[in-house]
Amino acid sequence: MKKKIVVFTGAGISAESGIQTFRDANGLWEGHHVEDVASIDGWNKNPSLVQNFYNMRRQIALNAEPNAAHCALVTLEKVFDVHIITQNVDLLHERSGSSHVLHLHGRLDLACSSLDKRLIYPVVGHEIKMGDCCEKGSQLRPNIVWFGESVPNMEPAIQLSEQADIMIVTGTSLTVYPAASLVEVIVPTCDLYVIDKHINLARIPKKSITMEGTASEMVPKLVNQLIAHNTIL
Ligand code: OAD
Repeated sequence: MKKKIVVFTGAGISAESGIQTFRDANGLWEGHHVEDVASIDGWNKNPSLVQNFYNMRRQIALNAEPNAAHCALVTLEKVFDVHIITQNVDLLHERSGSSHVLHLHGRLDLACSSLDKRLIYPVVGHEIKMGDCCEKGSQLRPNIVWFGESVPNMEPAIQLSEQADIMIVTGTSLTVYPAASLVEVIVPTCDLYVIDKHINLARIPKKSITMEGTASEMVPKLVNQLIAHNTIL
């Protein structure tokens, strides 16, 4: 049976594809405070601002290309049972060819009803317009998990993480909960690799094997190591 590798990714893995991370620019994100544009309160206060903001992000994501880190994770599937859990709302893991991707914070290619998040629709092009409505007549909004909302995919993410033989964490500051708690649910025998441009030792479990550097450099390096090691065994 193939070993199970769970890869937990954040904004840093898409940084080299030209998509800005959240916390690398003094708390400002594309010129906005995160809480104004990524919270249910922000949406209730100013839906047009939030809609435009996500329309802009969708356009950036659509024009971005997967980088060497996304592609290396596809190669890993040749040898391992690979499951990606991502906080990213871009679709770069799917576009690079990864087979199993679980989105914790939603997806930019989907809209949902602002009345009932279970009513989900594909977004055609890069825009959801104010006035675009669900079948019940309510405004469509980005299908994103905002601050102040529950994270429906947390339960399957915990289950996957508990089953991991190896976990790779990359490009996340591990500051946003409950997502960040996934590194705490792995079993004691699970090898935990952390790849980040600036590793914050205070945020990661003591047993972590750290690889400081960019995702496009370090993820392919680790993938090659894991494949070589597994082939020898
Ligand atoms: P952050 O912006 O908090 O963290 C990005 C991480 O990526 C940091 O640790 C950086 O050091 C690292 N990094 C930057 N460039 C890198 C590169 N080229 N290679 C490797 N690492 C790099 O992003 P997340 O942890 O993903 O949620 O943020 C978590 C959540 O906070 C997001 O999903 C979003 C945000 O608010 C919502 O919008 C609900």
